[in-house]
Amino acid sequence: MIASALLIQNINRIGIFSSLTETEIKELLNYASYEEYKENQMIFNENDSGASLYIVITGKVKIFRVLSDNTIHEISNFTDNEVFGEMSFLDNQARSANAEALCETSLVKLSTDNFEQFSQAFPDAAFRFHKNLITEIQARLRKTNDRYSYHIIWGKTMKTALAKNYEELLQSNIELSASRNFLFNVINSSSDIIIVINDDYEVMLFNSGAERALNYKASDFINKSAKKLFYDELAFDTLIKDVISRKSLSDYEIDLKASDNRKIIVSLSAFTLSPVINNSKFGEGLVLVARDVTQKKILENQLRQNEKMIFLGKAVSEIVHDIKNPLTIVQLSKDSLQIKLEDYRGSQPQLQKDVEVDFGKIDESVERIQQIITNTLEYAKVVPGKKTRIDIMEVAAKSIQLSGINLKDNENITLDLRSVSGSPVYINGNASQLEQVLVNLITNAIQAIKKGIDGKIEVAVGASDGRARVSVTDNGCGIGADDMQYIFEPFYSTKSSDKGTGLGLSICQAIVSQHDGLINVKSGAGGTEFVVDFPLA
Ligand SMILES: Nc1ncnc2c1ncn2[C@@H]1O[C@H](COP(=O)(O)OP(=O)(O)OP(=O)(O)O)[C@@H](O)[C@H]1O
Ligand SMILES: [Mg+2]
Repeated sequence: MIASALLIQNINRIGIFSSLTETEIKELLNYASYEEYKENQMIFNENDSGASLYIVITGKVKIFRVLSDNTIHEISNFTDNEVFGEMSFLDNQARSANAEALCETSLVKLSTDNFEQFSQAFPDAAFRFHKNLITEIQARLRKTNDRYSYHIIWGKTMKTALAKNYEELLQSNIELSASRNFLFNVINSSSDIIIVINDDYEVMLFNSGAERALNYKASDFINKSAKKLFYDELAFDTLIKDVISRKSLSDYEIDLKASDNRKIIVSLSAFTLSPVINNSKFGEGLVLVARDVTQKKILENQLRQNEKMIFLGKAVSEIVHDIKNPLTIVQLSKDSLQIKLEDYRGSQPQLQKDVEVDFGKIDESVERIQQIITNTLEYAKVVPGKKTRIDIMEVAAKSIQLSGINLKDNENITLDLRSVSGSPVYINGNASQLEQVLVNLITNAIQAIKKGIDGKIEVAVGASDGRARVSVTDNGCGIGADDMQYIFEPFYSTKSSDKGTGLGLSICQAIVSQHDGLINVKSGAGGTEFVVDFPLA
């Protein structure tokens, strides 16, 4: 190629050509070729055969590699009066990278073959050029080496730093898991029910207190809807609304549902772990802490019932007293009328007959009223009886015997007594009053079993947790959910008036609480179980 003086001067300033004279460069360029490239045009590709170097006259060249993940790794850029591709020129190996023109670029290309021809003509110049080229490449290699060493040292430092970080991380992980365990133990040793739910009402935490109170395993509910834990799902919706509007709740009474469908009345506190966002999002979660107050509620209820019974007892005694006197007068007047009518026996036989029928009705009604009075008085006079140390098993046996009369018309029913503990269970109590309790419960059980059904009633006696327990279980019709809350109310009965006055259970409750006992009921479609428990003597 024909080279201008300026180009020759410029090339002369380039390191590897600096050992040549301008004339020698001019000669050398005679063996070179001139090439022009457009923007983004490839000059050579990786793995192309090399054996030539390039001098950039004008423009810009990018040297790059395409990595295995198809990303581009840019190695370097060359611009005016810079040389690239000299490695392949020297070792004749394939290209180790790609070269692309970044703009309109003009290059001088010098191939090894052409240089060979130059070497034969100018061996001295070729030797100097080679020496210079090797020195230049050596310098470049040292630079690269330093860069890699730096990377290795940096890598090692990083490794040490990372190891240190890792150790610290490990340590904080241990500490974190220790405090997590501590917290977990605190949460689990609480006798309270602790449940955490997320925005979708799914359970995130279900502590041991909840497992015990509701008779579920945490795994039954983790990541599942909490709604099923509530006796009434509508009440759950209201709870959520209340939390959102009030941000936190305390002493909130709500009914939970145990695994056996038992109603567990709880006093609940609720708070969100982060502020309520968007009026429905609980952020990190909604915490529900609940305490089982079922027994407390039953006791309160019993106390209320007792007060009612005392009041009722007084009222009934007065009413009965007021009825008794006029009733005696009715009876006596009827007797005297009957005597007086004796005189008409012969003359008015038809009248006599009719009057006898009416007298019979009067007798029957008076007797019925007297019976009601006796029963009501009996029910109403729940005064504390004399207590002695008694075996509740004997009380149960006697009650079953007494209930035998009620069973006469119910041959479809079997009534069994079972001792759970196998040994006597002593309590301080009044035997006849406790018999009255069990007879009432057994009578209810008998009345709950329809005719023609294979009825089973079991009275079981046992002891656990320092309490004597007597249960009366039947496979009768069960107690309707709507009736359940009223059954201990005096005069609440679902039976026809000739069968029930609705006083049986209120009497039972009054007697049981006079014995420091509790009466509980579970009922469903399969039947009913009443459990009465007392402190052991
Ligand atoms: N074992 C049971 N099975 C089904 N329902 C029952 C049972 N025990 C009680 N009940 C329900 O509870 C109500 C109240 O019972 P309670 O013993 O107080 O009154 P009663 O049996 O109706 O009348 P009384 O006992 O005064 O003759 C009953 O009417 C019945 O609806
Ligand atoms: Mg009854």
